[in-house]
Amino acid sequence: MPNRIALVTGCSRGVGAALAAELLRRNWRVHGISRSAPPAELIEDGLVHLPLDLSDVDAVGEHFHASFANDLHLEAADQIALVNNAGVLAMAPTQGLDLRQMDAAFRVNVTVPAWLMGWFVQHTPEITRLDLVNLSSGAASSAYPGWLTYCTSKAALRMAGRVVAADVAEQLALSDRPIHVLDYAPGVVATEMQAEIRSAAPSSFPRSERFHDLYEQDQLADPSAPAGEIADLLERRNPPAYDERRLGS
Ligand SMILES: NC(=O)c1ccc[n+]([C@@H]2O[C@H](COP(=O)([O-])OP(=O)(O)OC[C@H]3O[C@@H](n4cnc5c(N)ncnc54)[C@H](OP(=O)(O)O)[C@@H]3O)[C@@H](O)[C@H]2O)c1
Repeated sequence: MPNRIALVTGCSRGVGAALAAELLRRNWRVHGISRSAPPAELIEDGLVHLPLDLSDVDAVGEHFHASFANDLHLEAADQIALVNNAGVLAMAPTQGLDLRQMDAAFRVNVTVPAWLMGWFVQHTPEITRLDLVNLSSGAASSAYPGWLTYCTSKAALRMAGRVVAADVAEQLALSDRPIHVLDYAPGVVATEMQAEIRSAAPSSFPRSERFHDLYEQDQLADPSAPAGEIADLLERRNPPAYDERRLGS
């Protein structure tokens, strides 16, 4: 049986918890990061939980020291995956942006995921397949009123993935490395993030009606749908160096 390891951020609920469950079912070794505890079943099924606040760059830097690669047994793995799934909305109208909230959201949505891609490129053995997955959104390319922080940070994360792929393609030091970057948009999923969107006042999020309609028409995907697709994409043979997918594509 192949020795595959995944680090999934945002494993306590939503898409991240569903993906951790799916990968454990497929016999991956799974480590997960979140501030709150993941569901007990995930721990029982083998999830190694790392309680960490991804907006705290000092804590992240302390944790991801060089010997953490040994703790993860990266040298023994046939395949390694980083899934940058944790994300926050930080909704606010342009005239009401909170500097600290924005800064923390950018750390969670862009700074730390982008840095983690670099950490994994640095610490993955050269011959080992490395998959870097960034949870994207339609908001990475469409402007939503009230979502300045979310749209901007998701667009930046998408670009970070493209730059990593360009580094792999053009930097001699990385040439011939089996590194694959996937930008994956999960669609509209029934998670706490969607509940937060529906709870926004139309004055701060003028497009809330669409999300209420989707909810009332039972159009939200179950988290297991994107989780299953991401797991399938991680397990496909010969993936491209860079790929963009969305739920159902
Ligand atoms: N749901 C959708 O419709 C939708 C649509 C498009 C894209 N997405 C993207 O899909 C991903 C997952 O979304 P979701 O709907 O599953 O979100 P969710 O239900 O709100 O879950 C977010 C996860 O991120 C973790 N997280 C948030 N802030 C964190 C921090 N400071 N440190 C560590 N972990 C943190 C949370 O854990 P703790 O709170 O325990 O720390 C939680 O496990 C996100 O990147 C989101 O942008 C979702």
